[in-house]
Amino acid sequence: MLGHTAAFHRNPVAFLEEGYRAHGEVFRFLLAGKDFVVLAGPRAHEAYFRAAEDHLSAKDVYQFTIPIFGKGVAYDAPRDIMNEQLGFLFPALREKRMQTYARLMHEEASAYVSTWGDEGEVDLPHVTNDITVNIAARCLLGQEIRESFYDGFADLYEDLQLGINTIGFFAHWLPTPRHIKRDRARKKVSELISGILRERRRSGVERDDFMQTLMAARYKSGRALTDDEITGILLTTLFGGQHTSSVLAAWVGIELLQHPQYLPPILDEIDHFYGKGFGARTSEAMTTDTLRGQVTLERAIKECERLHPPLIMLIRKVMREFEYDGFVVNEGSMAMVAPALSHRLRSVFRDPHRYDPDRFAPPREEDKQTTYTLIGFGGGKHRCIGMAFAYMQLKAIWTVLLSNFEFELASAVPAPDYSGWVIGPQQPCKVRFKRRKA
Ligand code: HEM
Repeated sequence: MLGHTAAFHRNPVAFLEEGYRAHGEVFRFLLAGKDFVVLAGPRAHEAYFRAAEDHLSAKDVYQFTIPIFGKGVAYDAPRDIMNEQLGFLFPALREKRMQTYARLMHEEASAYVSTWGDEGEVDLPHVTNDITVNIAARCLLGQEIRESFYDGFADLYEDLQLGINTIGFFAHWLPTPRHIKRDRARKKVSELISGILRERRRSGVERDDFMQTLMAARYKSGRALTDDEITGILLTTLFGGQHTSSVLAAWVGIELLQHPQYLPPILDEIDHFYGKGFGARTSEAMTTDTLRGQVTLERAIKECERLHPPLIMLIRKVMREFEYDGFVVNEGSMAMVAPALSHRLRSVFRDPHRYDPDRFAPPREEDKQTTYTLIGFGGGKHRCIGMAFAYMQLKAIWTVLLSNFEFELASAVPAPDYSGWVIGPQQPCKVRFKRRKA
C-alpha cells in the first residue's frame, strides 16, 4: 500500500532521478496505493502533452481545486467550457494591457522597497512573495482589492492556500479544520468580489485588469459570466500565477548571488535600457519593449525555470490504456512528466546540474532543441497561459531590486522545500542589502 511513499516524500527529485538511472525514460512506482508512471525526456513529453484530454486527464487530477475555484469553473467544467473560460482571459494578456502591467509591476516593486533603509537584512522568499501578491492583487483582482488587501483579503487568501494540502489531494471534501476554513474563506472572497462587481457596474468605472476583462466576456451562447464564475476564474489565475512566480523570483536571486559573475552583464543591460540610477526614477521608462530587450536577465530566469521549476511534476489520470515506445500504461494509473527530472538529463542539457544561463544564448540555445525540451510552464493543451506575464513580472522585480540595491546571501544556500505543491526554497533565506549610490 505505501510502496515508495516514504522515499518519495523525503526527496521527490532525488527519488525520480534514481528511478531514471535505474530504469531509463519510462518507469513506475507506487505512491499511497496508486500506480504512477513517469515519462522522461522531450520525446516522451511530446506523446504525453499531445494526448487527448479523454486519454490523459488533467481534470481528474485537479479535483482538489474545485472547492477553491468553484463549481462549474475550470477543472469542474467540461474541457470545452474550461477552454472558453480561460480564453476569456486572452484580452487581458494582449500587448496593450501588458504595457499597463509593466508600469504597475514597476510601481508595486518600487513601492515595496521604498520603505527599506540604506542597508539591512530580509528574508528573500518573503520579499518576493509580498511583491508578487501585490502585483497579482493589482493586475488580476483589481485596484479595489489591492487597496484593502491587508485589511482582510490576505488572511482569506492564506486560508485558501492552506486548503491545498496532501489530505485535500485525495479527499478535498473531508471536513478537516483546514478545509472548513477554506470553504468559509471562499464564501467571503465571493461576497467581496461580488460587492466590487456591483459597484463597478453601478459607477460605470472601467479598469485595466483581469476582472474588468471577465466582466465584458460572453460565452458563445451570449450569456455573461455570473459573479461566482468571475470569482472562480480570478482565483484560478491567482493560484496558477502568484506562488509560482514568487518562488521562481526567489530562486533567481539565490542563484545570481551564488554566481555573481553573471551579474555585470545584467546590470549593464539595465543601465542600457533605463540609464544609471534608474531605481530612483519613475516607472514610465519600463515598457514591454525594454523588458523584452533584457535578454541576459531572461536567460538567468530561464536557467532557474530549468533548475528549479516551481511545479516539479505534472500529473494526468490515464482514462484508457496509454502506449508509448512499446510501454503500456494501464487505465486508472497516474501518468507523470517531471520538469525537475527532465530538465536535468545529461542527454538533453550539457552539464545539467550546473547553473549556466549562457546555455540559452546563441548558438547553444539548448532549450530550442524541441518544443518539449523546457517544460517549466507545461506543454500542449494545458500549457500555462500566464508565461509571458510571469517572465515580465520576474524581470520587472529583479530590475527594480538590482537597480536599487547590492545583495549578498546572509544564510546558507537553501534546499528546496518539498512540503507543498509549489516548490520553493526553504525559509528563512536571508539576504543582506545595501543601497546603490546614485
Ligand atoms: C513562474 C510562474 C509560473 C509557472 C512556473 C507556471 C507553471 C504552469 C504549468 C507547469 C502549467 C501546466 C500545468 C499542467 O499541465 O498540469 C500551468 C498552467 C496554468 N497556468 Fe501557469 N505558471 C506560472 C505563472 C502563471 C501566471 C502568472 C498565470 C496567470 C496570469 C498562470 C495561469 C495558469 C493557468 C490558468 C493554467 C492552466 C492552463 C490549462 O490547464 O489549460 N500561470 N502553469
